[in-house]
Amino acid sequence: MSEAAPGHLLPWDSDFFGLRVARADTSRLDDRSADALVAWARAEGVDCTYFLADPDDRASVRAAERVGMRLTDLRVTFERSLQDRPAAPGAPALSAAVPADVPALRAIAAASHRDGRFHHDGGFSAERCDELYATWIENSVGGYADGVLVARDDAGACGYISCHLDEDAGRIGLIAVAERARGRGLGRALVQGSLAWFADRDRPAATVVTQGRNVPALRLYETLGFRTRSVELWYHLWTSRPPEARP
Ligand SMILES: CC(C)(COP(=O)(O)OP(=O)(O)OC[C@H]1O[C@@H](n2cnc3c(N)ncnc32)[C@H](O)[C@@H]1OP(=O)(O)O)[C@@H](O)C(=O)NCCC(=O)NCCS
Repeated sequence: MSEAAPGHLLPWDSDFFGLRVARADTSRLDDRSADALVAWARAEGVDCTYFLADPDDRASVRAAERVGMRLTDLRVTFERSLQDRPAAPGAPALSAAVPADVPALRAIAAASHRDGRFHHDGGFSAERCDELYATWIENSVGGYADGVLVARDDAGACGYISCHLDEDAGRIGLIAVAERARGRGLGRALVQGSLAWFADRDRPAATVVTQGRNVPALRLYETLGFRTRSVELWYHLWTSRPPEARP
């Protein structure tokens, strides 16, 4: 009997980066299954395979590192009940994103998400990594998200937060404030705005995923009462040219 493939190709990521990109179908590896994953990736001509591991799982971490996987990100998931939302006296007004905001939102996104695993990997083109986030916020305004709230200053849109309605919770997708407007409370206002938006749509809780290296974001969520739900490790396995050899 033939064994099931240990991973699957990701068509969107592959198309976007112009590479063959895949994801391991397991969160646990041992030496045998790590070798099988590498052999599968080579046989399929995969360039890069993502693997998400539990940091407590020493065997998986060792097996991943033995076959040359690279740690690219700590994936931190936060959650917060919406029963006791923080008060937001005097918070700046937010409004729903409109299509005319897209160029400004794309520019903020392209410059704001360099803490992510794609940039840190080093094997993906930096320009494509910036474009990934620009595309993400554009698609969010276009309907990928259930809502996008925008903060504005005299120069136009200067911050965004995308909101998704999961069955049992609201989920923050992407948030950023333009460099020129940081440190003035807009990030806090955007998160508070999303919490109100979720509560108005009968969600009892909110979740958000961020990067363990992103201290401003960690502190933003902590200061607004979010608590850690989980920490996971993103590994990337390159089975084509090593990232250092890429332009
Ligand atoms: C994270 C981000 C949205 C914060 O926006 P901001 O408008 O500058 O934040 P605020 O002025 O509202 O600050 C709110 C809280 O965030 C935290 N914070 C913001 N900037 C910080 C920094 N540079 N260092 C440490 N903590 C920071 C603080 O806890 C702050 O509260 P405090 O001032 O009472 O200590 C902004 O830095 C940003 O756009 N970063 C790039 C995109 C990003 O990392 N998004 C999150 C992951 S998807």
